[in-house]
Amino acid sequence: MKPLRIALTKGRLEKHTASLLEQAGYGCGSLRDKGRRLILPVGGGEIEAVLAKAADVITYVEHGVCDLGVVGKDTIAEMGHHFFEILDLGFGRCAFALAAPRGADFYAGYGVKTIATKYPSIARRFFESKHMDVRVIKIEGSVELAPLLGLSDGIVDIVETGATLRENGLEVVERIMEVSARLIVNPASMKLRKAEIDQLTKRLSNVTAA
Ligand code: PRP
Repeated sequence: MKPLRIALTKGRLEKHTASLLEQAGYGCGSLRDKGRRLILPVGGGEIEAVLAKAADVITYVEHGVCDLGVVGKDTIAEMGHHFFEILDLGFGRCAFALAAPRGADFYAGYGVKTIATKYPSIARRFFESKHMDVRVIKIEGSVELAPLLGLSDGIVDIVETGATLRENGLEVVERIMEVSARLIVNPASMKLRKAEIDQLTKRLSNVTAA
């Protein structure tokens, strides 16, 4: 039988994911010493790991070319669900927040506010829930720049330690949602390879619960 294929988010979550897999008994030497390879055997070939950007992890799982994925709740909340989210892996903890220049009263006045964000759906949903009309501008990274340059009144972004906000004269106005890494599964794989997926999930959840 071919190995289960799991898409892992490159970057911030990568080391935590490798540690978790290792603690669960899946050797990750290949991941730690991967060079520029993008598909790697894990756990002696029991699993095939694919390294991808967060949004692409979801795309590969949704299309069924990967059975499982490890991805942040931030990307899941922005892109939506055509897969099962089966486990909170407990790392990659951070939060979505509305932030604005320190001391500014974000909610003051009646004009339509402008919000810069990498996560337009989340920003729109948040302000819709407040029945507030806003203009949302999509930014690809370093979103904190937008209010500093005068492009927006505030940002909706991920806050982890708060250092980026602090060092750029911004502050949290409101926390929107807690975020952490999740294990996601393709619905067809969940049916066809249930026993193997259950076993992997059990081994991971034993470690996350420890
Ligand atoms: C994220 C996020 C914030 C920063 C928050 O950006 O968009 O900018 O991390 O972390 P902190 O609260 O610990 O300072 P990332 O480093 O992923 O890069 P990006 O801005 O290019 O997306």
